[in-house]
Amino acid sequence: MLIIVLLFSSCAKDDAIEYSPTPINLEIPSNFPPLVYAIENNPLTEEGFQLGKSLFYEGKLSSNNSIPCAFCHEQAFAFTHHGHNVSHGVDGGIGIRNSQPIQNLVFQSEFTWDGAATHLDLQPIIPITSEVEMNESLSNVVEKLKADAYYRSAFALAFEEGEINGENLLKALSQFMVMMVSTNSKYDRMIRQEGNETFSVLENDGLVTFQQKCTSCHATDLFTDQSYRNNGLSVNPQVDDKGRYNVFQNPDDLYKFKVPSLRNVEHSFPYMHDGRFETLEAVVNFYDNGLTDNGNVDPLLVSENGSLGIPLTDYEKQSLVAFLKTLTDNEFLQNERFSDF
Ligand code: HEC
Ligand code: HEC
Repeated sequence: MLIIVLLFSSCAKDDAIEYSPTPINLEIPSNFPPLVYAIENNPLTEEGFQLGKSLFYEGKLSSNNSIPCAFCHEQAFAFTHHGHNVSHGVDGGIGIRNSQPIQNLVFQSEFTWDGAATHLDLQPIIPITSEVEMNESLSNVVEKLKADAYYRSAFALAFEEGEINGENLLKALSQFMVMMVSTNSKYDRMIRQEGNETFSVLENDGLVTFQQKCTSCHATDLFTDQSYRNNGLSVNPQVDDKGRYNVFQNPDDLYKFKVPSLRNVEHSFPYMHDGRFETLEAVVNFYDNGLTDNGNVDPLLVSENGSLGIPLTDYEKQSLVAFLKTLTDNEFLQNERFSDF
């Protein structure tokens, strides 16, 4: 990164930069839903994407200049924070939630575990300004970037008026994140009948069980219906994270969290909003026999006799885990286009 910055700064001629962006086309396979993000308001260009990528890996977005977005969103782990159940930011500041994957956000209308962010362009303001994350102000970030010759030329290449300001910074980050689509797992190839991809018997039995017992919430090929649900996790009294309730103070929303996509779930551990489970085996055991009556469990998880959870045999659990691993998209996890080099 440093070398790239030095290279660019040595040849940056701020005044002589010509704005002639290279448009990029975002191709979405047939098994995906329509886009939600309004690309027409922030047209994707190679220059905007590259700027967004630099910003995503840029420590200057934080107050101590050393916590970039990528610190908590690491590519190899589906852009989550490996080894941390809840986020760690500037000066060891500890948050209350597990870092979420950055993938397929172009299909989503609300962000974070409780949906507090209602536009992708606005979401990064939360981590930048959060005391326990990057602990910085947008205006301060802008000042730091203005003092950097690489960013003076990169903004001029990416935006017509070329100004380094909060709006352009957020738009560039969005262009990078909009491009981060994960659509090429074994499951996708099987569903789209590409390259003779087939499932093993175990994976196929897992798919059948998943369709019977899980798709009411983990719906569509995004594997989320994008609703907020209470799946019966016991409440940690020390944190008492009320989830969706925090946004509208509506009692119906108590302890509801966004249904997460399960794409690349093999690599995004630990699981749930507070990272309480380390393994997929622990998650399927939880659905079978670990639910707690926290006062607002989703009716889909309450049986007629009042018992909680989704009864699963050992074989069903084993096959579910095998199926979930077919959602791993190595092309995405290793794509150098999203990497810091
Ligand atoms: C200190 C760790 C940390 C840093 C730094 C950080 N994030 Fe996050 N990110 C998180 C956590 C934790 C969540 C879940 C937040 C919540 O639910 O309240 C999250 C959620 C998100 C989401 C929502 C994803 C979804 O599916 O709804 C996006 C987008 C995101 N971060 C982008 C960024 C960007 C861009 C930056 C840099 C400007 C950044 N993050 C910096 C920890 C971090
Ligand atoms: C009633 C809706 C609902 C049903 C049914 C459901 N889930 Fe979930 N699932 C959720 C919600 C909500 C979360 C996040 C809860 C939280 O963190 O507070 C979740 C989280 C998960 C996670 C953790 C993902 C991550 O990134 O942390 C996995 C894995 C998972 N579910 C698998 C399954 C499987 C397998 C089934 C079927 C046996 C299933 N779910 C059925 C709503 C549901």
